[in-house]
Amino acid sequence: MNRSSIKELLQSDKFLHEVHVKGWVRTFRSNRFIALNDGSTINNIQCVVDFENTDEALLKRITTGAAVSINGTLIESQGKGQTVEIKVTNLEILGDSNPDEYPIQPRKHGFEFLRRNAHLRVRTNTFSAVMRLRSALSFAVHQYFQQNGFYYVNTPIITGSDAEGAGEMFKVTNFEANKAPLNEEGEIDYTKDFFGKETNLTVSGQLEAETYAMALGKVYTFGPTFRAENSNTTRHLAEFWMIEPEVAFNDLDANMDLSEDFIKYVLQYVLDNCQDDLAFLDNRLAQEEKTKPQAERSEMGLIEKLRFVVDNNFKRVSYTEAIEILRNSKPNKKKKFQFPVNEWGVDLQSEHERYLVEKHFKCPVILFDYPANIKAFYMRLNEDGKTVRAMDVLFPGIGEMVGGSQREERLDVLKEKMAELNIPEEELWWYLDTRKFGTAVHSGFGLGFERLVLFTTGMSNIRDVIPFPRTPQNAEF
Ligand code: 4AD
Ligand code: MG
Repeated sequence: MNRSSIKELLQSDKFLHEVHVKGWVRTFRSNRFIALNDGSTINNIQCVVDFENTDEALLKRITTGAAVSINGTLIESQGKGQTVEIKVTNLEILGDSNPDEYPIQPRKHGFEFLRRNAHLRVRTNTFSAVMRLRSALSFAVHQYFQQNGFYYVNTPIITGSDAEGAGEMFKVTNFEANKAPLNEEGEIDYTKDFFGKETNLTVSGQLEAETYAMALGKVYTFGPTFRAENSNTTRHLAEFWMIEPEVAFNDLDANMDLSEDFIKYVLQYVLDNCQDDLAFLDNRLAQEEKTKPQAERSEMGLIEKLRFVVDNNFKRVSYTEAIEILRNSKPNKKKKFQFPVNEWGVDLQSEHERYLVEKHFKCPVILFDYPANIKAFYMRLNEDGKTVRAMDVLFPGIGEMVGGSQREERLDVLKEKMAELNIPEEELWWYLDTRKFGTAVHSGFGLGFERLVLFTTGMSNIRDVIPFPRTPQNAEF
C-alpha cells in the first residue's frame, strides 16, 4: 500500500479508507493515543491504538522518538483539536527510542540545550517550523530571480582575492602546520602550495558575479560564505549563506528598488505558502514576549510584522541625514550610546542602526551615500569626492540585512582607489578588465540569508536558523 504524508491526510475528507503512514512518535498517552509526525507538516496526526487487543510488549515500545509504520482507517476525529485521526489496525516499530536516553522529551527545552543537540533539535516543533520556512524562503529566492530574468551563477568558494578587504578570511592551504616551506625571505612559500598562491574561503562572490553581469546582464549568486570575524553575537556566523544579485545598467536607485521588491516578494511567498508554520512561530514568539518586561515587548506579532514590511515602503535616508538624527537623538544626548555620535564620518554601530529602525522610523530603512573611507574599494565615488554610492538595508530586530552599492565603473577612479588602499592591480587584473572592455554602470547587493530567516521566523539567535551553526569555538557535527 502507498504511504501517505501526514500533511495530505490532515487535509483529506475521504473517510473510512485504509491508509498507510510512517513517522516518529511525538507522544503516546493513555496507552492509546499516538501523536505522529513525519516532517511533512508541523501538525501531528492522532493514531488511536486498540490497546486491549495489542500485545503489552509492543505497547511498551511506542515511545517518544520511535519510528513506526502504521496501517489503519482514516476516520473523522472523535476528540477535539483535530478533524481526522487514524484507527490503527496494524502497527510496526521500525526503530526503537529508549526513553531513558532520548534527549528530546515532550516538554520545553532551552535553546542552548538544543544547540548542543543540533542533530536532534529539528525533531521539535520550533526547529522543524524554522527549517521548513528556511527551505521555502530559498525556493522563493530562486523563483523571484528566475521570474525576473536573472541567471544563477555559482561563484568560487576558494578564491585568491579579498572582496571586502576586511581581513576576515579563512586560509585554504595544503601545507601541514609548522612544515610549510619558506622562501628566501623566510616567509611561507605559497608558490609550492596546492594552488601555487595564497588562497582563502570566499567572503563574497561579488567580484566574480560582476564579471558575469557584464555579459549576462542580470545575475545572482546564492551560496556559502565565510568570515573569520571573531564576533560572538546573535547576528554573526563564521559560515553563512549569501544572496548576491548584480545587474548591469542599474544605478543605486534601481538597486534600492530591487532590494525592496525582492524582500517583499519572498516574505509574501511565505505568508501565502507557510501558514501553519508561521502561525506556530507567531504563537511561540507571543509566549516569549510575555516573559519580557513590558517596555521591551514588541508591539507587533510575527505575522503582523511580516505584513507590515510587505505593505509599507522602506524609508530611504542618506547617511548624512541619519547622522543628524542620531546626533540629536535622546540616547545620544543622554550619553546612552556606547559609541556616541559626534561627527560626520563615524561608522554606524548596531545600536545606532537599531535606534533608527526601531525607535525613530519604526520600519525598514535604506541608508545610502556613506563616507567613502568606511566602505569597500569598489563602491562608486560621488561628485562630492567624499561619499560613495553605498546602501545598507536595516531591519527592526536585526540591524543590517543587506549591504550593497553602485560599483565604480570608471577605470581611472577605481585604480586610484586601489592604489590608495594598497590593493595590488596584479591581484585583480581580471576585475579591472571589466572596466577596460565595455564598462558600464552596474549595481548589486548581498543579503545574509540567515538574517532573513531570523526575521521571518521571529527567532532571536542566528545559531537557531541554520542546521549546524559554525561560530568561534564551535564546529561540532
Ligand atoms: O555587507 P556585506 O559585507 O557586503 C558584501 O559582502 C558585498 N560584497 C555584497 C554585495 O554587494 N554583493 O555582507 C552582506 C550581508 C550583510 O548585510 C549581512 O546580512 C550578511 O551579509 N552578513 C552576515 N551574515 C551572517 N554572519 C556574518 N558573519 C555576516 N556578515 C555579513
Ligand atoms: Mg555590510
